[in-house]
Amino acid sequence: MNVTPKLVIGNWKMNGLREASLQLATAVAEGARSLPDDVRMVICPPFTQLDRVAEALEGAGASLMLGAQDCHTAVSGAHTGDISAEMLADTGVRYVLLGHSERRQAHGENDALIRQKVQAAEAAGLIPVVCIGETMAERQDGRAATVLASQIDGSLTDNFNGVLAYEPVWAIGSGVTPSREELERTLLLLRGLLQSRLKMDDIRVPILYGGSVTPAQAPTILSIGVLGGVLVGSASLEARSFLRIAEAA
Ligand code: G3P
Repeated sequence: MNVTPKLVIGNWKMNGLREASLQLATAVAEGARSLPDDVRMVICPPFTQLDRVAEALEGAGASLMLGAQDCHTAVSGAHTGDISAEMLADTGVRYVLLGHSERRQAHGENDALIRQKVQAAEAAGLIPVVCIGETMAERQDGRAATVLASQIDGSLTDNFNGVLAYEPVWAIGSGVTPSREELERTLLLLRGLLQSRLKMDDIRVPILYGGSVTPAQAPTILSIGVLGGVLVGSASLEARSFLRIAEAA
C-alpha cells in the first residue's frame, strides 16, 4: 500500500548566518537519515543561505529537501531585490512557501498576487506551499470559515497540485494552538473547500498545520489522520527540536 509521506517543513524566516545555517542544516541532515520513508522533511532558509544549505543536504534524497520562503511572479527582468521561481529551482529548491501571513501583512500580499506566484512556481517545476489562516479578530467575529474560503478561492490555481498550509495567524509565535477537535473540524472544512474549489471529489492536496508547533505538541497534532504534516517556525531553528517533531510524524 502506498502511504503519502507526512511533510515536516521548517520555515527559518529571517534567521540564519553562514556558520549557524551550515551547522543547523548538517545536523538536520544527519538526523533525517534515520527517519522512516513515510516522513519527508523540508528546510526553508533565507535566500542568502540556500546555496549553503543545498550543499549540506546533498545526498539526503527525498527524505530532506530544500525549500524557499517566497518567489516573484516573473521569470526574470527588472525587479530589483526579487528572486524568481526559476532561480530557486536552479539552486536546488523543490518547495516554495507562498502567501505566508507575515508576507500578507508586512508586504501587502493579496490572494490575486499569491495566485500569480503559485503559477510562477508551478511553471518552474516547484511545489507551492500556500499558507492561509484567519486572524484573531476574524476568529472572534465568527468569520474564520469565510476568510479561509476566500483565501482558497483567490490564491489557488484551478489545477492546483501543491500543498495547503493552515496557519491561524493567532497561533503563530504565540505558544497557543487550536485544540485537537477544533483543528480536526477546520481540516474537514478545508478539505470540503478544496473539493469545491478544485472541482474534485478525491483531493490529493496535503493540508499542513502551522503555528506554535513544538516537540511537546507535535504528537497530538500529528495524530490527526487527515493532517498532511506540519509547518514549523521557531522550533525548526534547533536541530533536535525539529527532528523530534519529524519523529512524531
Ligand atoms: O511558517 C511557520 C510559522 O509561521 C509558525 O511559526 O514560530 O509559531 O512555529 P511558529
